Amino acid sequence: SGPCGSVPKHIEHFSKFSPSPLSMKQFLDFGSINACEKTSFVFLRQELPVRLSNIMKEINLLPDRLLTTPSVQMVQSWYIQSLMEILHFLDKNPDDHRVLGEFVDALVTIRNRHNDVVPTMAQGIIEYKEAFPQDVVTNQNIQYFLDRFYMSRISIRMLINQHTLIFDGTTNPVHPNTIGSIDPHCQVGDVVQDAFHSAKMLCDQYYLRSPDLVLQEMNKKSNHPISIVYVPSHLYHMLFELFKNAMRATIETHESSNNLPPIQVLVSLGGEDMSIKVSDRGGGVAFRRIENLFSYLYSTAPAPQIGEHTRPPLAGFGYGLPISRLYAKYFQGDLQLYTMEGYGTDAVIYLKALSTDSIERLPVYNKTALKNYKVSQEADDWCVPSKEPLDLSSYKVAKAK
Ligand SMILES: Nc1ncnc2c1ncn2[C@@H]1O[C@H](COP(=O)(O)OP(=O)(O)OP(=O)(O)O)[C@@H](O)[C@H]1O
Ligand SMILES: *[C@@H]1O[C@H](CO)[C@@H](O)[C@H](O)[C@H]1NC(C)=O
Ligand SMILES: [Mg+2]
Repeated sequence: SGPCGSVPKHIEHFSKFSPSPLSMKQFLDFGSINACEKTSFVFLRQELPVRLSNIMKEINLLPDRLLTTPSVQMVQSWYIQSLMEILHFLDKNPDDHRVLGEFVDALVTIRNRHNDVVPTMAQGIIEYKEAFPQDVVTNQNIQYFLDRFYMSRISIRMLINQHTLIFDGTTNPVHPNTIGSIDPHCQVGDVVQDAFHSAKMLCDQYYLRSPDLVLQEMNKKSNHPISIVYVPSHLYHMLFELFKNAMRATIETHESSNNLPPIQVLVSLGGEDMSIKVSDRGGGVAFRRIENLFSYLYSTAPAPQIGEHTRPPLAGFGYGLPISRLYAKYFQGDLQLYTMEGYGTDAVIYLKALSTDSIERLPVYNKTALKNYKVSQEADDWCVPSKEPLDLSSYKVAKAK
């Protein structure tokens, strides 16, 4: 059989290995003065197939009717293609400079191939959702899968970005001190300002007005502006999503008012956490809905159109919150919403203050994961309130169960 006939065997082989989570320090070492392209190459030609194969095993566990949608089939074919392209380097000589150059090119090709994975996958979910009634178990499975699938994707892109940025022989002209995509002195306040500014421009375009920013920093350790070792583009992504949401909510609940309450941001650095709170007075969300805001299946947004440019700018796939939470979790942080319906919402990003605590959080395919796809719907063990008012005057002892 041709090379494609052996794909399942390769996936089987590499999925038996657990992915190796890297710490921020390891990422920095790969890019330090004595950075060795050869070491990085040898690591990646094993680690990328491991991460790809682990998640490909889980794609195969999706419900058949989702797995066979054209969109999911397309995503799956991209993964197979990319896996094969990396495996091609397994028997190549790491001391050969041409090989190292070809590897960088291959990684760039792979990164571009996977650019549209999120909207394509979303399209598959929508097709599935339109064709089949949803049940709680399927929703749970899809949520479980997509959180792991997108987390895996974030991590694979991180590895590819680090290698291609560090070893393409140039320095970043805008941020000469970054190591790949990591800034060892990421000034959190600056990123807040940048993200706010971008969201504000979108908001002005769409609503012809926008709320202001009030930014405050609390640094327990010193009077310096708060900085951490982090990937500024990840932090920017999360903040941009939170600001778009906060602005939309603020404007829509103050439609008839001349004054918009500002969006307040508090950045706080402690011994363990660096937290960022984004507070709006946009009327909040009912507590019951909170979980759904993070759901890929119950997203309120209309169907995204791939390649469409006229999408309303402040609300799109409905993936803003779930994907932002994954970025926070990727380096052991989190993102939580605290909301009071009728008043407003606090969204808090928790990140690790110490780079030694910032370690990749990666899904691994093994028996535990497999078991999580096999959960079935349990019968409820809490009473269901009757719709009829209970008339206590004619109350008779209920029948035994
Ligand atoms: N600060 C907030 N105040 C009130 N409602 C909010 C707030 N943040 C989020 N929401 C609600 O949560 C929903 C989901 O938010 P999310 O950012 O995940 O998706 P979206 O904004 O609809 O689309 P996208 O972010 O992909 O463009 C929003 O549609 C909105 O109804
Ligand atoms: C699956 O992997 C995780 C992380 O390595 C581990 O904690 C868990 O025990 C494993 N499960 C099984 C059944 O091996
Ligand atoms: Mg949003």
